[in-house]
Amino acid sequence: MKEHIVKLNLPYPILFGRDGIDRVGEVVGKYSPRAEKILVATDTNVERLYTERVMQSLEEKGFEPYRFIIEAGEKSKNTSSYLNLITTLAVRGFKRTDAVVALGGGVVGDLAGFAAATYMRGIDLYQVPTSLLAMIDSSIGGKTGVDLPQGKNLLGAFWQPKAVIIDVLALDTLPEDEWKNGIGEGIKYACLAGGRILEILQGNLKENICEFVELCAKYKADIVVADERESGLRKLLNLGHTVGHAIEKKSEYKVPHGVAVANGIEVMVRTAYEHGEITFLQYDEIQSLLDKYDMSITCVKHEIADCFAMDKKAEGKDCISVVTFGGAGDCKVEKMTINELKTYINIG
Ligand SMILES: NC(=O)c1ccc[n+]([C@@H]2O[C@H](COP(=O)([O-])OP(=O)(O)OC[C@H]3O[C@@H](n4cnc5c(N)ncnc54)[C@H](O)[C@@H]3O)[C@@H](O)[C@H]2O)c1
Repeated sequence: MKEHIVKLNLPYPILFGRDGIDRVGEVVGKYSPRAEKILVATDTNVERLYTERVMQSLEEKGFEPYRFIIEAGEKSKNTSSYLNLITTLAVRGFKRTDAVVALGGGVVGDLAGFAAATYMRGIDLYQVPTSLLAMIDSSIGGKTGVDLPQGKNLLGAFWQPKAVIIDVLALDTLPEDEWKNGIGEGIKYACLAGGRILEILQGNLKENICEFVELCAKYKADIVVADERESGLRKLLNLGHTVGHAIEKKSEYKVPHGVAVANGIEVMVRTAYEHGEITFLQYDEIQSLLDKYDMSITCVKHEIADCFAMDKKAEGKDCISVVTFGGAGDCKVEKMTINELKTYINIG
């Protein structure tokens, strides 16, 4: 498998390949040599597709693997699933040296990651992302957590995995809607990095999927290395997220995360054009991508504005970090009050 090292204090590899699912046991054996029990956390869709292979690869390397399955979907990313997961670890007698494998999309990754971060003050975690969104975004960087009724990801921790294992062949079974969801976050990278990521999205994504996943994952890893705890540069990854999270919340999470982010990006790109901060060509470059991947949803802007204050990017009194768009490869983090943001995006 190809390897990209995330060079944090405790460095870890992102492993890219077409046989990663069958090599989970080998990787866990290498990075957690003292582990005996492994909990494979997954959801109802991924369970029937890939869990058996992961369990087998772990058994072949002499581990004692257990399954933990949640109902597929964002609704499962809650405190009750979290408590069930850590209770399972406790009941099964997991020790500090044992490990959790998160096999699935971002929901499983965030939930199982948070359980691994907190059980016995932290045990080894392996991210095995199977959705496009999880491969290019959520499995990398150590953000873990669950949702509260008051908002998304309000309970969480930073907990870096021991390794991320990306098997792009898992995308063969990903439903088209979930491709679209991942592409939404992909468009974010195209805005932030421009270059080849943008070019692949403009061309044939599926033909170049390995390269695309690798480029996006490496881009995210490099930003995380520069700013692990999101005190500066990492905030760039929130492009489109202030409006995106508000859209998700207003739709009661019926609009998937990536699609909501794409619509948040659309607002920021259109606003930049309306303010004369970018040319028509720069605007059109991104707008054409949003059209190509059919990202547009109807949302009433003033209805989402009241969700801004609950956003995790809200800092202190009425202040929020907003990522503005100055053309592909040129985005900036700016502090605004919520009223300034409303005026900027013209919903004041
Ligand atoms: N931690 C982070 O840095 C970070 C970043 C971005 C998003 N997130 C979180 O990620 C979550 C969204 O992740 P997601 O879009 O992967 O959602 P998800 O985990 O719900 O997965 C989407 C759907 O695809 C199915 N699926 C996954 N892989 C499959 C495969 N290979 N074949 C068939 N079906 C498959 C799942 O069962 C699910 O139904 C949100 O909770 C979001 O907050 C976290």
